[in-house]
Amino acid sequence: MQPLKSQKKDQPKQLWWKTGIIYELYIRSFQDSNGDGVGDLKGIISKLDYLKDLGIDCIWVTPFYKSPMKDFGYDVADFTSVDPLFGSMEDFDKLLKETHARGMKLIVDQVPNHTSDQHAWFKEARSSRDNPKRDWFIWKDAGEDGKEPNNWLAMFGGSAWEWDKETEQYYYHAFLKEQPDLNWRNPEVHQAVLEEMRFWLEKGVDGFRVDVMWHLIKDEYLRDNPDNPDYKEKEPTYNRLQPVYSTDQPEVHDVVELMRDLTDEYNERVLIGEIYLPTHQLVTYYGHDNQGAQLPFNFLLLTMDWDSKKFAIAIDKYEGALPNEGWPNWVLGNHDQSRLATRIGPAQARVAAMMLLTLRGTPTLYYGDEIGMEDVNIPKDEIQDPQGLMMPDKDLSRDPYRTPVQWDDSNNAGFTTGDPWLRLSDNYKKLNIKAQQDDPESMLSLYKKLIALRKKEPALHSGLYRPVYSDQQLLSYIREGEGKRFLIILNLSDRDCRFSSERFNFKGTVLLALHAESEGQKMNKSIDIKGNGGLIIELEL
Ligand code: GLC
Repeated sequence: MQPLKSQKKDQPKQLWWKTGIIYELYIRSFQDSNGDGVGDLKGIISKLDYLKDLGIDCIWVTPFYKSPMKDFGYDVADFTSVDPLFGSMEDFDKLLKETHARGMKLIVDQVPNHTSDQHAWFKEARSSRDNPKRDWFIWKDAGEDGKEPNNWLAMFGGSAWEWDKETEQYYYHAFLKEQPDLNWRNPEVHQAVLEEMRFWLEKGVDGFRVDVMWHLIKDEYLRDNPDNPDYKEKEPTYNRLQPVYSTDQPEVHDVVELMRDLTDEYNERVLIGEIYLPTHQLVTYYGHDNQGAQLPFNFLLLTMDWDSKKFAIAIDKYEGALPNEGWPNWVLGNHDQSRLATRIGPAQARVAAMMLLTLRGTPTLYYGDEIGMEDVNIPKDEIQDPQGLMMPDKDLSRDPYRTPVQWDDSNNAGFTTGDPWLRLSDNYKKLNIKAQQDDPESMLSLYKKLIALRKKEPALHSGLYRPVYSDQQLLSYIREGEGKRFLIILNLSDRDCRFSSERFNFKGTVLLALHAESEGQKMNKSIDIKGNGGLIIELEL
Protein backbone atom coordinates (compact mmCIF):
# COMPACT_ATOMS: atom_id res chain seq x y z
CA MET A 1 0.00 0.00 0.00
CA GLN A 2 1.55 3.27 -1.15
CA PRO A 3 0.97 6.43 0.83
CA LEU A 4 -1.17 8.82 -1.19
CA LYS A 5 0.52 11.93 -2.48
CA SER A 6 -1.55 14.24 -0.31
CA GLN A 7 -0.52 12.20 2.71
CA LYS A 8 3.18 12.75 2.21
CA LYS A 9 3.00 16.44 3.01
CA ASP A 10 4.95 17.62 6.03
CA GLN A 11 2.65 18.00 9.00
CA PRO A 12 2.65 21.46 10.61
CA LYS A 13 3.79 21.66 14.22
CA GLN A 14 1.16 19.98 16.30
CA LEU A 15 -0.41 21.78 19.23
CA TRP A 16 -0.52 20.24 22.69
CA TRP A 17 -4.28 19.81 22.63
CA LYS A 18 -3.96 17.78 19.43
CA THR A 19 -1.20 15.44 20.47
CA GLY A 20 -1.95 15.33 24.20
CA ILE A 21 -4.25 13.25 26.35
CA ILE A 22 -6.93 14.86 28.53
CA TYR A 23 -8.02 13.46 31.89
CA GLU A 24 -11.31 14.45 33.49
CA LEU A 25 -11.09 14.70 37.20
CA TYR A 26 -14.37 14.94 39.16
CA ILE A 27 -13.13 17.04 42.02
CA ARG A 28 -15.52 15.78 44.72
CA SER A 29 -14.23 12.26 44.30
CA PHE A 30 -10.57 12.55 43.46
CA GLN A 31 -8.71 13.07 46.75
CA ASP A 32 -9.78 14.59 50.04
CA SER A 33 -7.04 16.44 51.96
CA ASN A 34 -8.93 17.60 55.08
CA GLY A 35 -11.05 14.67 56.15
CA ASP A 36 -14.46 16.19 55.33
CA GLY A 37 -15.20 13.35 52.92
CA VAL A 38 -15.18 15.53 49.80
CA GLY A 39 -12.27 15.81 47.35
CA ASP A 40 -10.55 19.19 47.10
CA LEU A 41 -7.86 21.21 45.35
CA LYS A 42 -5.11 20.29 47.82
CA GLY A 43 -6.05 16.67 47.30
CA ILE A 44 -5.46 17.03 43.56
CA ILE A 45 -2.07 18.65 44.16
CA SER A 46 -1.02 15.66 46.26
CA LYS A 47 -1.79 13.35 43.32
CA LEU A 48 -0.23 15.27 40.46
CA ASP A 49 2.75 12.95 40.35
CA TYR A 50 0.43 10.03 39.81
CA LEU A 51 -1.15 11.80 36.83
CA LYS A 52 2.23 12.71 35.42
CA ASP A 53 3.40 9.14 35.78
CA LEU A 54 0.27 7.90 34.02
CA GLY A 55 1.33 10.02 31.07
CA ILE A 56 -1.60 12.37 30.68
CA ASP A 57 -0.97 15.88 29.37
CA CYS A 58 -3.92 17.88 30.55
CA ILE A 59 -6.25 17.81 33.53
CA TRP A 60 -9.81 19.04 33.28
CA VAL A 61 -11.08 19.86 36.76
CA THR A 62 -14.88 19.91 37.22
CA PRO A 63 -16.44 23.03 38.87
CA PHE A 64 -14.93 24.17 42.17
CA TYR A 65 -16.61 27.61 42.22
CA LYS A 66 -18.89 28.88 45.00
CA SER A 67 -22.09 26.94 44.72
CA PRO A 68 -25.08 25.80 46.76
CA MET A 69 -24.23 22.36 45.26
CA LYS A 70 -27.77 21.58 44.13
CA ASP A 71 -26.15 20.12 41.00
CA PHE A 72 -22.79 19.53 42.66
CA GLY A 73 -21.10 22.66 41.42
CA TYR A 74 -22.79 23.01 38.03
CA ASP A 75 -24.99 25.59 39.78
CA VAL A 76 -22.43 28.36 40.08
CA ALA A 77 -23.05 31.26 42.50
CA ASP A 78 -19.81 33.08 41.76
CA PHE A 79 -17.70 32.07 38.83
CA THR A 80 -14.53 33.86 39.94
CA SER A 81 -14.30 32.26 43.36
CA VAL A 82 -13.41 28.96 44.99
CA ASP A 83 -15.98 27.24 47.18
CA PRO A 84 -14.48 26.74 50.68
CA LEU A 85 -15.49 23.08 50.39
CA PHE A 86 -12.76 22.69 47.77
CA GLY A 87 -10.18 25.09 49.28
CA SER A 88 -9.11 28.64 48.53
CA MET A 89 -7.94 30.71 45.58
CA GLU A 90 -4.38 30.22 46.85
CA ASP A 91 -4.92 26.48 46.58
CA PHE A 92 -6.07 26.93 43.01
CA ASP A 93 -3.04 29.08 42.15
CA LYS A 94 -0.81 26.43 43.65
CA LEU A 95 -2.54 23.67 41.71
CA LEU A 96 -2.02 25.56 38.48
CA LYS A 97 1.61 26.25 39.26
CA GLU A 98 2.34 22.67 40.27
CA THR A 99 0.54 21.28 37.22
CA HIS A 100 2.55 23.51 34.92
CA ALA A 101 5.76 22.70 36.78
CA ARG A 102 5.21 19.07 35.79
CA GLY A 103 4.75 20.02 32.15
CA MET A 104 1.01 19.40 32.21
CA LYS A 105 -1.89 21.68 31.27
CA LEU A 106 -4.99 22.53 33.26
CA ILE A 107 -8.42 23.38 31.94
CA VAL A 108 -11.42 24.45 33.95
CA ASP A 109 -15.14 24.00 33.53
CA GLN A 110 -17.05 26.99 32.24
CA VAL A 111 -20.81 26.96 32.87
CA PRO A 112 -22.23 29.78 30.72
CA ASN A 113 -25.72 28.42 30.06
CA HIS A 114 -27.05 29.01 33.55
CA THR A 115 -26.14 30.26 37.00
CA SER A 116 -27.29 29.25 40.44
CA ASP A 117 -30.43 31.01 41.67
CA GLN A 118 -28.10 32.24 44.42
CA HIS A 119 -25.85 34.07 41.94
CA ALA A 120 -25.89 37.87 42.47
CA TRP A 121 -27.05 38.36 38.86
CA PHE A 122 -30.15 36.25 39.33
CA LYS A 123 -30.94 37.72 42.73
CA GLU A 124 -30.94 41.15 41.11
CA ALA A 125 -32.91 39.99 38.08
CA ARG A 126 -35.51 38.43 40.32
CA SER A 127 -35.84 41.48 42.57
CA SER A 128 -38.14 43.38 40.20
CA ARG A 129 -39.37 43.44 36.63
CA ASP A 130 -37.50 46.64 35.89
CA ASN A 131 -34.19 45.67 37.42
CA PRO A 132 -31.40 46.35 34.88
CA LYS A 133 -30.39 42.68 35.05
CA ARG A 134 -33.93 41.37 34.53
CA ASP A 135 -33.22 40.62 30.88
CA TRP A 136 -30.04 38.70 31.70
CA PHE A 137 -32.31 35.71 32.24
CA ILE A 138 -35.30 34.42 30.28
CA TRP A 139 -38.57 35.76 31.69
CA LYS A 140 -42.02 35.35 30.18
CA ASP A 141 -45.59 36.12 31.14
CA ALA A 142 -47.91 33.25 31.87
CA GLY A 143 -49.81 31.77 28.97
CA GLU A 144 -53.56 31.24 28.97
CA ASP A 145 -54.99 30.27 32.38
CA GLY A 146 -51.65 30.95 34.04
CA LYS A 147 -49.97 28.12 32.13
CA GLU A 148 -46.27 27.91 31.23
CA PRO A 149 -45.29 30.02 28.20
CA ASN A 150 -44.56 26.90 26.13
CA ASN A 151 -44.17 23.12 26.43
CA TRP A 152 -40.41 22.96 27.01
CA LEU A 153 -39.18 20.37 29.50
CA ALA A 154 -36.27 20.46 31.94
CA MET A 155 -33.45 17.92 31.51
CA PHE A 156 -33.89 16.90 35.14
CA GLY A 157 -37.65 16.37 34.85
CA GLY A 158 -40.81 18.46 34.82
CA SER A 159 -41.48 21.74 33.10
CA ALA A 160 -38.56 24.02 32.23
CA TRP A 161 -40.51 27.04 33.49
CA GLU A 162 -40.71 28.20 37.09
CA TRP A 163 -43.23 30.72 38.33
CA ASP A 164 -41.83 33.62 40.31
CA LYS A 165 -44.57 34.71 42.70
CA GLU A 166 -43.07 38.07 43.59
CA THR A 167 -42.74 39.43 40.07
CA GLU A 168 -45.43 37.28 38.48
CA GLN A 169 -43.53 35.90 35.53
CA TYR A 170 -42.03 32.57 34.60
CA TYR A 171 -38.28 32.06 34.14
CA TYR A 172 -36.70 29.34 32.02
CA HIS A 173 -34.33 26.68 33.38
CA ALA A 174 -33.03 23.86 31.20
CA PHE A 175 -31.92 21.93 34.31
CA LEU A 176 -33.05 22.49 37.93
CA LYS A 177 -35.25 25.41 38.91
CA GLU A 178 -32.25 26.48 40.98
CA GLN A 179 -30.29 26.81 37.69
CA PRO A 180 -31.93 29.67 35.74
CA ASP A 181 -30.73 29.99 32.13
CA LEU A 182 -28.89 33.12 31.09
CA ASN A 183 -30.24 35.08 28.15
CA TRP A 184 -27.50 34.87 25.51
CA ARG A 185 -29.50 37.18 23.24
CA ASN A 186 -28.48 40.02 25.56
CA PRO A 187 -25.01 41.45 24.71
CA GLU A 188 -24.47 42.45 28.35
CA VAL A 189 -24.46 38.77 29.20
CA HIS A 190 -21.72 38.20 26.61
CA GLN A 191 -19.53 40.82 28.20
CA ALA A 192 -20.13 39.62 31.74
CA VAL A 193 -19.37 35.96 31.00
CA LEU A 194 -16.37 36.74 28.82
CA GLU A 195 -14.93 38.83 31.63
CA GLU A 196 -15.21 35.88 33.97
CA MET A 197 -13.46 33.70 31.42
CA ARG A 198 -10.74 36.30 31.10
CA PHE A 199 -10.20 36.13 34.86
CA TRP A 200 -9.13 32.50 34.55
CA LEU A 201 -7.16 33.04 31.36
CA GLU A 202 -5.18 35.78 33.09
CA LYS A 203 -4.36 33.31 35.83
CA GLY A 204 -2.94 31.05 33.16
CA VAL A 205 -5.47 28.24 32.70
CA ASP A 206 -4.98 26.44 29.41
CA GLY A 207 -8.57 26.42 28.29
CA PHE A 208 -12.18 25.64 29.10
CA ARG A 209 -14.57 22.76 28.86
CA VAL A 210 -17.78 24.63 28.10
CA ASP A 211 -20.80 23.06 29.76
CA VAL A 212 -23.85 22.24 27.57
CA MET A 213 -22.66 24.38 24.69
CA TRP A 214 -25.54 23.35 22.44
CA HIS A 215 -28.08 24.78 24.90
CA LEU A 216 -26.75 28.34 24.96
CA ILE A 217 -29.29 30.07 22.73
CA LYS A 218 -33.00 29.31 22.47
CA ASP A 219 -35.51 30.06 19.71
CA GLU A 220 -36.33 33.74 19.56
CA TYR A 221 -40.07 33.03 19.50
CA LEU A 222 -39.90 30.27 22.12
CA ARG A 223 -41.93 27.96 19.88
CA ASP A 224 -43.26 24.66 21.26
CA ASN A 225 -41.02 21.66 20.77
CA PRO A 226 -42.51 18.83 18.69
CA ASP A 227 -43.34 15.43 20.21
CA ASN A 228 -40.86 12.60 20.01
CA PRO A 229 -42.72 9.62 18.50
CA ASP A 230 -39.96 7.21 19.62
CA TYR A 231 -40.17 8.09 23.31
CA LYS A 232 -40.07 5.14 25.71
CA GLU A 233 -41.41 5.36 29.27
CA LYS A 234 -38.15 4.36 30.94
CA GLU A 235 -36.34 7.33 29.39
CA PRO A 236 -36.02 10.72 31.08
CA THR A 237 -39.24 12.71 30.68
CA TYR A 238 -37.19 15.32 28.80
CA ASN A 239 -37.08 12.93 25.83
CA ARG A 240 -40.85 13.17 25.34
CA LEU A 241 -40.17 16.12 23.08
CA GLN A 242 -37.57 16.82 20.41
CA PRO A 243 -35.67 19.86 21.63
CA VAL A 244 -35.48 21.50 18.22
CA TYR A 245 -36.37 25.00 19.46
CA SER A 246 -34.75 24.92 22.89
CA THR A 247 -31.26 23.79 21.78
CA ASP A 248 -28.82 23.94 18.86
CA GLN A 249 -30.02 27.23 17.39
CA PRO A 250 -28.04 28.75 14.48
CA GLU A 251 -27.07 31.80 16.57
CA VAL A 252 -25.19 29.62 19.06
CA HIS A 253 -22.20 29.69 16.72
CA ASP A 254 -21.87 33.45 17.11
CA VAL A 255 -21.59 32.99 20.85
CA VAL A 256 -19.01 30.24 20.56
CA GLU A 257 -17.02 32.43 18.19
CA LEU A 258 -16.96 35.20 20.77
CA MET A 259 -15.52 32.80 23.30
CA ARG A 260 -12.98 31.60 20.77
CA ASP A 261 -11.94 35.18 19.92
CA LEU A 262 -11.23 35.62 23.59
CA THR A 263 -9.19 32.44 24.06
CA ASP A 264 -7.30 33.27 20.85
CA GLU A 265 -6.00 36.44 22.50
CA TYR A 266 -3.91 34.08 24.61
CA ASN A 267 -1.32 31.61 23.55
CA GLU A 268 -2.32 28.01 22.72
CA ARG A 269 -5.53 27.89 24.75
CA VAL A 270 -8.26 25.42 23.94
CA LEU A 271 -12.03 25.63 23.84
CA ILE A 272 -13.82 22.33 24.32
CA GLY A 273 -17.58 22.04 23.98
CA GLU A 274 -19.88 19.59 25.71
CA ILE A 275 -22.34 18.73 22.94
CA TYR A 276 -24.68 15.77 22.66
CA LEU A 277 -25.79 15.88 19.03
CA PRO A 278 -25.64 13.59 15.99
CA THR A 279 -22.36 13.82 14.07
CA HIS A 280 -23.59 16.09 11.26
CA GLN A 281 -24.82 18.65 13.79
CA LEU A 282 -21.88 18.21 16.14
CA VAL A 283 -19.29 19.15 13.56
CA THR A 284 -20.94 22.53 12.96
CA TYR A 285 -19.50 23.52 16.36
CA TYR A 286 -16.05 23.75 14.80
CA GLY A 287 -17.54 26.99 13.49
CA HIS A 288 -17.11 28.93 10.28
CA ASP A 289 -13.48 28.57 9.19
CA ASN A 290 -12.82 26.59 12.35
CA GLN A 291 -13.41 29.66 14.48
CA GLY A 292 -15.65 27.80 16.91
CA ALA A 293 -14.68 25.19 19.49
CA GLN A 294 -11.40 23.43 18.71
CA LEU A 295 -12.71 20.24 20.27
CA PRO A 296 -16.47 19.73 20.20
CA PHE A 297 -16.60 16.64 22.40
CA ASN A 298 -17.28 13.52 20.38
CA PHE A 299 -19.35 11.13 22.51
CA LEU A 300 -19.71 8.30 19.99
CA LEU A 301 -17.72 5.86 22.13
CA LEU A 302 -19.95 6.73 25.06
CA THR A 303 -23.35 6.63 23.49
CA MET A 304 -23.19 3.88 20.85
CA ASP A 305 -23.84 0.15 21.07
CA TRP A 306 -20.57 -1.75 21.41
CA ASP A 307 -20.66 -3.22 17.95
CA SER A 308 -17.69 -3.46 15.60
CA LYS A 309 -19.64 -2.91 12.38
CA LYS A 310 -21.55 0.04 13.75
CA PHE A 311 -18.33 1.53 15.05
CA ALA A 312 -16.52 1.18 11.76
CA ILE A 313 -19.34 3.10 10.08
CA ALA A 314 -19.56 5.73 12.80
CA ILE A 315 -15.82 6.40 12.77
CA ASP A 316 -15.81 6.80 9.00
CA LYS A 317 -18.83 9.09 9.13
CA TYR A 318 -17.19 11.18 11.80
CA GLU A 319 -13.86 11.38 9.98
CA GLY A 320 -15.72 12.26 6.79
CA ALA A 321 -17.88 14.93 8.41
CA LEU A 322 -14.98 16.83 9.98
CA PRO A 323 -14.31 20.19 8.39
CA ASN A 324 -10.95 20.75 6.73
CA GLU A 325 -8.36 21.18 9.46
CA GLY A 326 -10.94 20.24 12.08
CA TRP A 327 -9.22 18.08 14.67
CA PRO A 328 -11.05 14.95 15.89
CA ASN A 329 -11.40 13.83 19.51
CA TRP A 330 -12.74 10.83 21.39
CA VAL A 331 -14.24 10.52 24.87
CA LEU A 332 -14.34 7.26 26.74
CA GLY A 333 -16.25 8.29 29.84
CA ASN A 334 -17.54 11.21 31.85
CA HIS A 335 -19.40 12.09 35.04
CA ASP A 336 -22.79 11.92 33.30
CA GLN A 337 -22.53 8.41 31.81
CA SER A 338 -22.36 4.90 33.20
CA ARG A 339 -18.78 3.71 33.53
CA LEU A 340 -17.17 1.93 30.64
CA ALA A 341 -16.27 -1.25 32.54
CA THR A 342 -19.93 -1.54 33.58
CA ARG A 343 -21.35 -0.77 30.15
CA ILE A 344 -19.23 -3.19 28.15
CA GLY A 345 -17.56 -5.36 30.81
CA PRO A 346 -13.98 -5.30 32.11
CA ALA A 347 -12.54 -7.40 29.27
CA GLN A 348 -13.91 -5.16 26.53
CA ALA A 349 -12.90 -2.10 28.54
CA ARG A 350 -9.33 -3.09 27.66
CA VAL A 351 -10.24 -3.19 23.97
CA ALA A 352 -11.83 0.25 24.38
CA ALA A 353 -8.62 1.58 25.91
CA MET A 354 -6.66 0.41 22.89
CA MET A 355 -9.24 1.95 20.59
CA LEU A 356 -9.26 5.29 22.42
CA LEU A 357 -5.49 5.55 22.38
CA THR A 358 -5.00 4.56 18.75
CA LEU A 359 -7.80 6.40 16.98
CA ARG A 360 -6.97 9.70 15.31
CA GLY A 361 -7.80 12.59 17.63
CA THR A 362 -7.40 13.85 21.15
CA PRO A 363 -8.46 11.26 23.74
CA THR A 364 -10.28 12.18 26.96
CA LEU A 365 -10.17 9.73 29.83
CA TYR A 366 -12.47 9.74 32.84
CA TYR A 367 -10.81 9.33 36.25
CA GLY A 368 -10.83 5.76 37.49
CA ASP A 369 -11.37 4.23 34.05
CA GLU A 370 -7.63 3.64 33.92
CA ILE A 371 -8.09 0.98 36.60
CA GLY A 372 -11.45 -0.25 35.36
CA MET A 373 -13.59 1.25 38.12
CA GLU A 374 -17.20 0.16 37.81
CA ASP A 375 -20.54 1.78 38.64
CA VAL A 376 -21.26 1.44 42.34
CA ASN A 377 -24.71 0.48 43.47
CA ILE A 378 -25.96 3.35 45.64
CA PRO A 379 -28.95 2.44 47.83
CA LYS A 380 -32.06 4.54 47.17
CA ASP A 381 -31.90 6.39 50.48
CA GLU A 382 -28.33 7.50 49.75
CA ILE A 383 -28.98 8.99 46.31
CA GLN A 384 -27.66 12.53 46.03
CA ASP A 385 -27.74 13.36 42.33
CA PRO A 386 -30.66 15.67 41.45
CA GLN A 387 -31.28 13.76 38.20
CA GLY A 388 -31.87 10.62 40.29
CA LEU A 389 -33.92 12.40 42.95
CA MET A 390 -36.17 14.26 40.50
CA MET A 391 -37.18 11.14 38.55
CA PRO A 392 -37.03 8.43 41.25
CA ASP A 393 -38.85 5.75 39.26
CA LYS A 394 -36.42 5.87 36.31
CA ASP A 395 -33.10 4.93 37.88
CA LEU A 396 -31.25 7.90 36.40
CA SER A 397 -28.97 8.85 39.28
CA ARG A 398 -25.42 9.61 38.18
CA ASP A 399 -23.98 8.86 41.63
CA PRO A 400 -22.87 5.31 40.66
CA TYR A 401 -20.27 6.68 38.24
CA ARG A 402 -19.02 9.47 40.49
CA THR A 403 -17.69 7.45 43.40
CA PRO A 404 -14.30 8.16 45.05
CA VAL A 405 -11.06 7.04 43.48
CA GLN A 406 -9.87 3.66 44.71
CA TRP A 407 -6.27 4.51 45.56
CA ASP A 408 -5.32 1.55 47.76
CA ASP A 409 -6.72 -1.10 50.08
CA SER A 410 -6.65 1.02 53.25
CA ASN A 411 -9.72 2.56 54.91
CA ASN A 412 -11.96 4.30 52.34
CA ALA A 413 -9.44 3.30 49.67
CA GLY A 414 -7.14 6.11 50.80
CA PHE A 415 -9.58 8.72 49.49
CA THR A 416 -10.47 10.29 52.84
CA THR A 417 -9.87 9.93 56.56
CA GLY A 418 -13.48 11.01 57.12
CA ASP A 419 -16.83 9.74 55.85
CA PRO A 420 -16.80 9.75 52.05
CA TRP A 421 -19.62 11.86 50.53
CA LEU A 422 -20.59 8.87 48.38
CA ARG A 423 -20.03 5.26 49.30
CA LEU A 424 -17.10 3.43 47.74
CA SER A 425 -17.25 0.24 45.80
CA ASP A 426 -16.96 -2.95 47.90
CA ASN A 427 -14.30 -4.15 45.48
CA TYR A 428 -11.73 -1.49 46.36
CA LYS A 429 -9.57 -3.83 48.45
CA LYS A 430 -8.75 -5.70 45.26
CA LEU A 431 -9.41 -3.16 42.56
CA ASN A 432 -7.22 -0.19 43.38
CA ILE A 433 -4.42 1.89 41.92
CA LYS A 434 -1.72 0.63 44.26
CA ALA A 435 -2.40 -3.02 43.48
CA GLN A 436 -2.44 -2.32 39.77
CA GLN A 437 0.78 -0.37 39.86
CA ASP A 438 2.61 -3.54 40.87
CA ASP A 439 0.92 -5.77 38.31
CA PRO A 440 2.27 -5.70 34.74
CA GLU A 441 -0.96 -7.29 33.43
CA SER A 442 -3.28 -4.76 35.07
CA MET A 443 -5.54 -2.25 33.34
CA LEU A 444 -3.38 0.55 34.71
CA SER A 445 -0.22 -0.98 33.25
CA LEU A 446 -2.03 -1.37 29.95
CA TYR A 447 -3.02 2.30 29.93
CA LYS A 448 0.54 3.31 30.72
CA LYS A 449 1.93 1.19 27.90
CA LEU A 450 -0.63 2.47 25.40
CA ILE A 451 -0.07 6.08 26.43
CA ALA A 452 3.71 5.71 26.26
CA LEU A 453 3.50 4.19 22.78
CA ARG A 454 1.10 6.87 21.57
CA LYS A 455 3.43 9.58 22.83
CA LYS A 456 6.47 7.98 21.25
CA GLU A 457 5.01 7.36 17.80
CA PRO A 458 3.98 10.39 15.72
CA ALA A 459 1.91 8.07 13.52
CA LEU A 460 -0.31 7.37 16.52
CA HIS A 461 -0.73 10.88 17.91
CA SER A 462 -0.67 12.87 14.67
CA GLY A 463 -0.76 10.46 11.75
CA LEU A 464 -3.45 9.64 9.26
CA TYR A 465 -6.33 7.27 9.80
CA ARG A 466 -7.34 4.72 7.21
CA PRO A 467 -10.09 2.16 7.74
CA VAL A 468 -9.09 -1.37 6.73
CA TYR A 469 -11.68 -4.03 7.49
CA SER A 470 -14.55 -4.70 9.87
CA ASP A 471 -17.04 -7.51 10.47
CA GLN A 472 -19.22 -8.80 13.32
CA GLN A 473 -16.17 -9.20 15.56
CA LEU A 474 -13.33 -7.15 14.15
CA LEU A 475 -12.50 -3.55 13.68
CA SER A 476 -9.21 -2.67 12.03
CA TYR A 477 -7.54 0.46 10.81
CA ILE A 478 -4.19 1.95 9.96
CA ARG A 479 -2.40 4.89 11.47
CA GLU A 480 0.53 6.17 9.52
CA GLY A 481 2.96 9.02 9.49
CA GLU A 482 6.62 9.96 9.63
CA GLY A 483 7.69 6.84 7.82
CA LYS A 484 5.81 4.35 9.98
CA ARG A 485 2.61 2.45 9.57
CA PHE A 486 0.64 0.67 12.29
CA LEU A 487 -2.23 -1.71 11.82
CA ILE A 488 -4.61 -1.85 14.76
CA ILE A 489 -6.90 -4.87 15.00
CA LEU A 490 -9.53 -4.97 17.73
CA ASN A 491 -11.75 -7.90 18.60
CA LEU A 492 -14.99 -6.48 19.97
CA SER A 493 -16.27 -9.95 20.84
CA ASP A 494 -15.23 -12.60 23.35
CA ARG A 495 -14.64 -15.22 20.62
CA ASP A 496 -11.29 -15.75 18.91
CA CYS A 497 -11.07 -14.71 15.31
CA ARG A 498 -8.66 -14.40 12.42
CA PHE A 499 -7.60 -11.42 10.37
CA SER A 500 -6.55 -12.24 6.86
CA SER A 501 -3.80 -9.90 5.74
CA GLU A 502 -3.00 -11.51 2.41
CA ARG A 503 -5.44 -9.48 0.33
CA PHE A 504 -3.97 -6.27 1.72
CA ASN A 505 -0.43 -7.50 1.30
CA PHE A 506 0.37 -6.60 4.90
CA LYS A 507 3.35 -8.02 6.75
CA GLY A 508 4.42 -6.96 10.18
CA THR A 509 5.18 -7.65 13.83
CA VAL A 510 2.96 -7.27 16.88
CA LEU A 511 4.27 -4.43 18.98
CA LEU A 512 1.65 -4.33 21.71
CA ALA A 513 -1.15 -6.77 22.44
CA LEU A 514 -3.97 -7.03 24.95
CA HIS A 515 -2.82 -10.62 25.58
CA ALA A 516 0.89 -10.17 26.19
CA GLU A 517 1.81 -13.57 24.70
CA SER A 518 0.95 -12.26 21.24
CA GLU A 519 3.62 -9.58 21.39
CA GLY A 520 6.51 -10.15 19.00
CA GLN A 521 4.39 -12.44 16.82
CA LYS A 522 4.86 -12.08 13.03
CA MET A 523 1.93 -11.53 10.68
CA ASN A 524 2.25 -12.96 7.20
CA LYS A 525 -0.88 -14.25 5.52
CA SER A 526 -3.10 -13.94 8.55
CA ILE A 527 -3.06 -13.45 12.27
CA ASP A 528 -5.27 -14.77 15.09
CA ILE A 529 -6.81 -12.47 17.62
CA LYS A 530 -8.09 -13.85 20.88
CA GLY A 531 -11.56 -13.01 22.20
CA ASN A 532 -11.40 -9.56 23.85
CA GLY A 533 -8.06 -9.15 22.14
CA GLY A 534 -6.39 -6.35 20.35
CA LEU A 535 -3.14 -5.91 18.48
CA ILE A 536 -0.98 -3.02 17.41
CA ILE A 537 1.14 -4.28 14.54
CA GLU A 538 4.02 -2.37 13.04
CA LEU A 539 3.79 -2.97 9.30
CA GLU A 540 6.73 -3.45 7.00
CA LEU A 541 6.78 -0.64 4.48
C1 GLC B 1 -23.57 19.21 32.02
C2 GLC B 1 -22.79 18.56 33.12
C3 GLC B 1 -23.76 17.92 34.06
C4 GLC B 1 -24.66 18.99 34.64
C5 GLC B 1 -25.35 19.76 33.53
C6 GLC B 1 -25.99 21.01 34.03
O1 GLC B 1 -24.23 18.29 31.23
O2 GLC B 1 -21.87 17.66 32.60
O3 GLC B 1 -23.12 17.22 35.07
O4 GLC B 1 -25.62 18.42 35.48
O5 GLC B 1 -24.43 20.16 32.55
O6 GLC B 1 -25.04 21.98 34.31
